[in-house]
Amino acid sequence: MIIWHVLLATCITLATGEPARPNVCKYLQCMKSSQTVANHTVIKYNKTIWEAHNLNENVFDFRAWNWTELDDLAHEGDALVEVIFNGLDIVQIDSLDGHDNVMSLNLDGNGIQNVEKNAFGQFRRLINLSLRANMISAIDHGYFYYDSKIENLDISQNVITTLVGFKDLTWASLIYLNASHNHIEHVTNQLVKLDKLEWVDLSYNRIARTDGPLMLPRNLRDCILNNNNLTIWPFDSVPGRLRHLCIGFNLLNSTKPASGLRKLDLSHNRLAVFCSECFPNLEELDISGNYLDTVPDWSASMDISPLKKISFNRMPFLRVIKNNSFSKTANLKEIEISTCPELANIEENAFTSLTQLQKLDLSYNGLQQVHENIVHWNRIKHGVNLQGNPFRCDCSMQWFLDRVISEMLSDRELHALFPDLRCTSPSIYKNQLLVRLTIHDNVLCRTTRMINEAGMVQIITSDEDHLVEKVILCCLIVANIVTLFYLVYLKNKRQYKIIPIYS
Ligand SMILES: *[C@@H]1O[C@H](CO)[C@@H](O)[C@H](O)[C@H]1NC(C)=O
Ligand SMILES: *[C@@H]1O[C@H](CO)[C@@H](O)[C@H](O)[C@H]1NC(C)=O
Ligand SMILES: *[C@@H]1O[C@H](CO)[C@@H](O)[C@H](O)[C@H]1NC(C)=O
Ligand SMILES: *[C@@H]1O[C@H](CO)[C@@H](O)[C@H](O)[C@H]1NC(C)=O
Ligand SMILES: *[C@@H]1O[C@H](CO)[C@@H](O)[C@H](O)[C@H]1NC(C)=O
Ligand SMILES: *[C@@H]1O[C@H](CO)[C@@H](O)[C@H](O)[C@H]1NC(C)=O
Ligand SMILES: *[C@@H]1O[C@H](CO)[C@@H](O)[C@H](O)[C@H]1NC(C)=O
Ligand SMILES: *[C@@H]1O[C@H](CO)[C@@H](O)[C@H](O)[C@H]1NC(C)=O
Repeated sequence: MIIWHVLLATCITLATGEPARPNVCKYLQCMKSSQTVANHTVIKYNKTIWEAHNLNENVFDFRAWNWTELDDLAHEGDALVEVIFNGLDIVQIDSLDGHDNVMSLNLDGNGIQNVEKNAFGQFRRLINLSLRANMISAIDHGYFYYDSKIENLDISQNVITTLVGFKDLTWASLIYLNASHNHIEHVTNQLVKLDKLEWVDLSYNRIARTDGPLMLPRNLRDCILNNNNLTIWPFDSVPGRLRHLCIGFNLLNSTKPASGLRKLDLSHNRLAVFCSECFPNLEELDISGNYLDTVPDWSASMDISPLKKISFNRMPFLRVIKNNSFSKTANLKEIEISTCPELANIEENAFTSLTQLQKLDLSYNGLQQVHENIVHWNRIKHGVNLQGNPFRCDCSMQWFLDRVISEMLSDRELHALFPDLRCTSPSIYKNQLLVRLTIHDNVLCRTTRMINEAGMVQIITSDEDHLVEKVILCCLIVANIVTLFYLVYLKNKRQYKIIPIYS
């Protein structure tokens, strides 16, 4: 009777206990992931685990591996699977047997050169495919069956020279395409049928406009074309939904209208002018590293521009910022005009009309002086960065110490703008930190003789000298204390000795 009970208990335990570990998890790494909406299992090739389990010391053979191995996982409910095989030596991908539960397949970094037609046709629920960092030279629509559910395709860092394989392609679900870091030279109408595509990265290729215009699919929102070989504007027109265009590090000398754009990066091209009316809805513009000699002019436009941020750095020919430059850009919150070595003059009231301005970066330009009323100094929440300018610290800059630096001292965040805010001339103040000149009243308006008489030469000595002074001071204090204790000790000692004599 007791034996029967024990047996029964054992059976119950076996029935309700953990299910057996799937065989595939003995030689591949199995992980649970809850990153996506549905929980899924991540299966990953891991050299350490494979070698620990594989007594014959064979290398893992991806092409011979049987995808039915994933069936065990499928038995745990309707488990979706993300499969990751990296760092293998695959070279050729045949038509794979695939598995219905694979939702995400990552074959990055395997030296893949050839992909057979219909290679991924059996993955009927595949959403993400990543073939990054292989040696693929062409992409073909035949990789997938006609009703592909692929949403994200990453073919970056390969040696693809053409997107011709995308032509006739109607991947009805493709949303995101990363084809950056390849050798693509021309793109015209190859992507135009990808109706769901919202995001494409074609940066770091060799794209030039030779045949015809680059035509973008109608629902595209983000397009990245940085680091290509574009000398002419690549589009005749862009889809109305395009919000964000990055086309920096090319050789453009002109642009064309794109009225829907909110964010535009044109940095490091060869533009000598900027067509502000071409982009009336722009909120963010980076036009750094071009050949403009003035800030783009919005003053002619009828409406107030929605522009919130402008970056206008590294402009070799910029000399002056005129006081009407920003008269129609009242929404600006952030301005960067930095590292323009010839910029020596900012006219009065240049920034005073910008009531929303929170951050103004004017660092590393050629400014020797600034007018007191270029900007409402106290209203800029994140401060005005004037570091790295070759300031001439004479009496005409005393207001700057009194009004601006003193105010900045009371806001800790703004102290970050002090370390490279220095005088370049006159020689007596060379490399002196402006913030340290506030220690004495009216210091820039005193003559050199007065400074010497007042013994103020010390304040313009360097930090190292102060360090030495501090060390000496500390030594003196320590020496004093030691002497004091010694005297006290001597006194006590004497009394101690004296007592027996008098008793
Ligand atoms: C994922 O699984 C965990 C437990 O394994 C559960 O708490 C969570 O609710 C699941 N999330 C979804 C979206 O199913
Ligand atoms: C491989 O598996 C071992 C043991 O589980 C783990 O410590 C290691 O981090 C894994 N390596 C990678 C690259 O995931
Ligand atoms: C994979 O394994 C299943 C059963 O385990 C077998 O029927 C099938 O033929 C195998 N496929 C290959 C390509 O070896
Ligand atoms: C697919 O990739 C995207 C972007 O990398 C990611 O956000 C998403 O969670 C992935 N989906 C699945 C099912 O792995
Ligand atoms: C596209 O791929 C490149 C190279 O692999 C990578 O650096 C970049 O971050 C990817 N873009 C996105 C948005 O994931
Ligand atoms: C870029 O285009 C120019 C002609 O406009 C050509 O001479 C040069 O070789 C191209 N560079 C690359 C990397 O394709
Ligand atoms: C732009 O450069 C091309 C040659 O690359 C030249 O033909 C054209 O005149 C230039 N346009 C402007 C506005 O400078
Ligand atoms: C703009 O600058 C000019 C000198 O260039 C000056 O005459 C004019 O008064 C200034 N306007 C404003 C509003 O400061």
